[in-house]
Amino acid sequence: MTARPPPASPTELFAPEQWQRIDSLLRQFDSAQSLWLSGYLAASASGKQGEVALPASGAPALTIAYGSETGNCEQLARNLHQQVLELGHSVQLTDLATLKVRQLRKLDTLWLIVSTHGDGDPPITAADFHRDLFAADHLKLGSLHYAVLALGDSTYEHFCQTGIDFDARLAALGARRLAERVDCDVDFETPARQWCEQRLAALPTADRATAPAAVAQDPRADSSSLYSKQRPLRSEVLEQLALSAADRPLGNYHLSLAIEEGSLPLQPGDAVGVFAHNPHTLVAAVLDLARLQGEAGVSIDGRAMSLATALGSARDLAIPTRKLLQSWAAWSGDTDLVTLGEDSKQARSWLKQRHLLDVLRTAPARVPSAQALVDVLRPLQPRLYDVANHVSADSDELELLVKRFNYPLGDREYAGIASHYLCDLAVGDSVRIYPHRNARFALPQVENPVILVGYGTGVAPYRAYLQARAARGDRNPCWLVLGEKSYEEDFLYQLEWQGWLASGLLSHLDPVFADDEPRRSLVSAFLDKADRLQRWIDDGALVYLCGDKAVLERCEEQMQEALRIASGCSRDECATLWQSLVDEQRVRRNLY
Ligand SMILES: Cc1cc2nc3c(=O)[nH]c(=O)nc-3n(C[C@H](O)[C@H](O)[C@H](O)COP(=O)(O)OP(=O)(O)OC[C@H]3O[C@@H](n4cnc5c(N)ncnc54)[C@H](O)[C@@H]3O)c2cc1C
Ligand SMILES: Cc1cc2nc3c(=O)[nH]c(=O)nc-3n(C[C@H](O)[C@H](O)[C@H](O)COP(=O)(O)O)c2cc1C
Repeated sequence: MTARPPPASPTELFAPEQWQRIDSLLRQFDSAQSLWLSGYLAASASGKQGEVALPASGAPALTIAYGSETGNCEQLARNLHQQVLELGHSVQLTDLATLKVRQLRKLDTLWLIVSTHGDGDPPITAADFHRDLFAADHLKLGSLHYAVLALGDSTYEHFCQTGIDFDARLAALGARRLAERVDCDVDFETPARQWCEQRLAALPTADRATAPAAVAQDPRADSSSLYSKQRPLRSEVLEQLALSAADRPLGNYHLSLAIEEGSLPLQPGDAVGVFAHNPHTLVAAVLDLARLQGEAGVSIDGRAMSLATALGSARDLAIPTRKLLQSWAAWSGDTDLVTLGEDSKQARSWLKQRHLLDVLRTAPARVPSAQALVDVLRPLQPRLYDVANHVSADSDELELLVKRFNYPLGDREYAGIASHYLCDLAVGDSVRIYPHRNARFALPQVENPVILVGYGTGVAPYRAYLQARAARGDRNPCWLVLGEKSYEEDFLYQLEWQGWLASGLLSHLDPVFADDEPRRSLVSAFLDKADRLQRWIDDGALVYLCGDKAVLERCEEQMQEALRIASGCSRDECATLWQSLVDEQRVRRNLY
């Protein structure tokens, strides 16, 4: 069949009086109105209101880009990429960490899937792209079509801020929005799936036989694992050891979990996601306050289970949402609560200082059904833990280093859910885990010197790395600086580090214990050996920072100061040098 050639002029398509009316109307519109109308008409023509039809494929017109820190956006992007391929389209998948802003000019269609972290900040991997996009005032993106899927958590003040930023900035630079942005909360699966389906439906019908096979694959594409977040491994606890003194309330624990050989493709620097359970006491308290029976049946994502099971393993019983507040207000008839729930800003700041139990305790309520309660609670999110051992192809154990975590809320202290769950596991118990790749923290297989800085449980991936080095026989210089509270109680894996120091696998080991030497901090090791730091940096050293975010951010700043002392450079010069190390990915962070 021969395609009809496009009309050369509007008068070939419209009657003269029709065109006159259209033309005079068009002249009244400003550019934003014209742009909106063009999208509206294109979408109407393709039968999809609010969306612009994509240009017919041929060249690799479509790019799916993701900005992800804990893997959700990355997983969505990978799945979508696969679906596009299966439809026979050419598409490239890219991490925003590797996409350059200037490359946007060459793209035709961009589907962006991005989360928000920190306090409304982009994921670390997307921080440079975000900065550069906002700095690119002269960039003209008139030929780019885009759509944004934003992931976030509505309990944060700046909900989905990064998605909002990208959406607004791309439009401001002239790019054409294909569809309204969708902002997803922690239960992102359904809205994200719908967004993906809409994007796929907007693709032109491709001819599988002629669609080019060339696919620019993300270089860090996952080697497919048997297990994933959707299909976690149920693993048995083989060993559970308290590493700190027995009477220490917030101690560190070493866990060894059984895995099938070769089932988890994990490199030093990778983590596992853990599906925790809420403590029985918390489940019982919620059931009591809701005046519901644990045996009542409910359904979550089509799966039937008892209310007790849902509250134990599928719902977050710590963080109250506005949806819960509003429902509890309606169920209790408490007028103060109703008024509070109506004002989103006030509700947010009130909720910020409260545990879920505090909300349920404000007034007795008649909850209409077990399902109604489950429906207003957030899904319980898995937590990440760095792998503390070298998992080779024939490993049948996976090890974790976990610290019990407590946090203050109002005038009380609460126990963190997953850390206490893990530390309370006993040998023979089972736990659901899945592999979480962390390519941006991949520990190196290069000749360069390596400086490892860890605070608390931040030493876990370094243990995995040193075991891998021992197995490979690597001998590049390696300097470990670790920080903890006390020498007697917290020198985690002391004998192993010292053994590696003695064997030469570690070139230098500098432990710093805050309680024993209050005047010293992590960076003291670098200030003491500023010349060595400078020499190693000059020799191409890679710097790894892992563990407590606040401690290590401070340490990183002070390392620049140590370099300044050693080199005699100005503060600005040192800051520029450090930034160049970051840009070259010679500074790698895994902070939490
Ligand atoms: C890549 C990565 C690797 C990690 N590796 C390790 C590791 O090797 N070892 C380790 O011990 N940890 C590690 N962590 C940290 C770990 O994932 C958990 O964050 C930590 O154990 C605390 O989790 P939790 O469930 O015990 O605490 P949670 O129950 O998640 O509580 C933590 C936070 O939730 C918030 N919160 C809870 N309730 C409320 C409320 N009602 N209102 C407002 N805020 C609330 C608080 O801000 C609190 O700080 C890692 C984290 C990441 C991202
Ligand atoms: C430390 C931390 C900070 C976060 N900060 C925000 C935030 O400021 N705003 C927001 O909407 N979501 C925030 N989130 C929620 C994430 O955006 C959300 O969990 C998302 O699904 C993560 O996607 P990713 O795994 O692709 O990074 C934060 C999550 C974490 C762990």
